[in-house]
Amino acid sequence: MARTREFTFDAERAAKYDGMFAPMSPLKGALHLLTRLALADLPDGARVMSVGAGTGSELMYLAAAFPSWRFTVVEPSAPMLEICRARIAEAGIGERCTLHEGVVPTLPAGPPHDAAVAHFVSHFLVEPGSRQAFFADIAARLAPGGHLVAADIAGSKAEADWPAMVRLFDPGLALCGMDESARADYWTSLGRDVALQSVGEVSALIGAAGFEQVTHMCRMLHMHGWHARRAG
Ligand SMILES: C[S@@+](CC[C@H](N)C(=O)[O-])C[C@H]1O[C@@H](n2cnc3c(N)ncnc32)[C@H](O)[C@@H]1O
Repeated sequence: MARTREFTFDAERAAKYDGMFAPMSPLKGALHLLTRLALADLPDGARVMSVGAGTGSELMYLAAAFPSWRFTVVEPSAPMLEICRARIAEAGIGERCTLHEGVVPTLPAGPPHDAAVAHFVSHFLVEPGSRQAFFADIAARLAPGGHLVAADIAGSKAEADWPAMVRLFDPGLALCGMDESARADYWTSLGRDVALQSVGEVSALIGAAGFEQVTHMCRMLHMHGWHARRAG
């Protein structure tokens, strides 16, 4: 079972995951589009690793956009991976996907990948050093020059615009069906169960993990995207 300090992606959470965040899907859609643009120069037959694939949101999008690409799907939560497996079967893309129930370091040895996509994963790694190690493990599975597209929560409650950002995003949580107490819990969890590091800190740790040309690709309130290339 994939367990972070607070978040366990168990069967109950997996079953609710896609439906719960459906009202936010346009934000994810923008991120998917930017990911597609970042990876647009990959060749036919590219090998792409979807790390923390969850129920397969970014995998489904990229597989449809690039019909020749092959995917290594890395996901430690069995219930999340089961939903992803069902979506892969429904989309008829099973021949292009290798599924791994586990994390990147336990992935069997294989040829290097051309790209890795890790959306909303590394912010769950709150133990000191674990986040940089996560990106270093990804770098080790990429070819030199291979792409990384990561998305995560970032920021600081001390930033001047944090309260305004909370006011802007809180109605989105309400749209997702969260009552006042659940929304308060969400904000409390940031910085405790979910890593809250500044954009600059996240960029620096991606660089220290073996990447170069680290680019802060986008901001959607407290959600951010990065693109980088494996140092070669
Ligand atoms: C919030 S979900 C994101 C799923 C998907 N990427 C998306 O954007 O919809 C985070 C996922 O990361 C997985 N995860 C947690 N720790 C991980 C790790 N160390 N390596 C890979 N995946 C991990 C969880 O099991 C969960 O499915």
